[in-house]
Amino acid sequence: MLECKNTSVIFDDGTKGVDNVSLSISNGEFCVLLGQSGAGKSTLMSMLNGLVTPTTGTVSLDSVEINKVTKRAIQQQISMIYQQLHLVPRLSVLHNVLVGKLFDVSTFKSLFKLFSREDERRACMLLDEVDLEEKHIYRRAVTLSGGQQQRVAIARAFMAEPKVVLADEPVSSLDPKVSRKILTRLKSASRQHNVAVLCSLHQLEYAIEFADRIIAMRCGKVVFDGVPSDLNDGELKEIYGHEYRALTPEERALLEQKT
Ligand SMILES: Nc1ncnc2c1ncn2[C@@H]1O[C@H](COP(=O)(O)OP(=O)(O)O)[C@@H](O)[C@H]1O
Ligand SMILES: [Mg+2]
Repeated sequence: MLECKNTSVIFDDGTKGVDNVSLSISNGEFCVLLGQSGAGKSTLMSMLNGLVTPTTGTVSLDSVEINKVTKRAIQQQISMIYQQLHLVPRLSVLHNVLVGKLFDVSTFKSLFKLFSREDERRACMLLDEVDLEEKHIYRRAVTLSGGQQQRVAIARAFMAEPKVVLADEPVSSLDPKVSRKILTRLKSASRQHNVAVLCSLHQLEYAIEFADRIIAMRCGKVVFDGVPSDLNDGELKEIYGHEYRALTPEERALLEQKT
């Protein structure tokens, strides 16, 4: 379980990126972190994976404070997926997935691509799970479409058998059809491997469609934490401020289906 207690991140200029947030996320839970640009989603994620030390409060994974363990130990347990596709362009699809285990393999071995058979088998299995056909696995990552690259990034994130995957706006550069496919794959990977996923999004419709739980932020604070069907217009106003919009009839119908 990933947990933060009374955490704040205050930048040098006084901005509160995260403002007194406490939450915990359990294994296998697919949580959407919802919020407008500037709400604090990326700062919260950087704090949860130890890149940013909270100004106050603590972050812990299975009751171990992450600021007390090495970066390597955190990397092994918490994987990231970013909006920009951080694949190594000239490496094959397969090797990009294997890169997910690099913390575990010496630089020397990785230079010569000396991964174990077992690792290669796992990489292929993960690529299969995200529906990337076998014929693509030796292609250079740079030659894939954006949606295919993001599926490779999902496979890579699960390569190291992490406890938590943090995905920071993984679909914001993709069209709706591809976005839905990516979110479907990410959610099923979370279920399959019993991994906690925190996926930030700014689109309400995807949050309603995919989230087991929505954690919504505004100005660094958590303003809603619950199941999608608990969202009402008042809460949406709180999340979106003057850019608030009411739920569409389709969204309402989807919420009713879920209750
Ligand atoms: N390094 C930084 N220094 C000062 N302010 C920052 C820094 N990084 C982010 N912020 C501010 O913190 C707030 C939250 O930013 P961010 O976490 O990037 O939001 P989101 O990911 O939801 O768009 C914003 O007001 C942003 O301008
Ligand atoms: Mg962000």
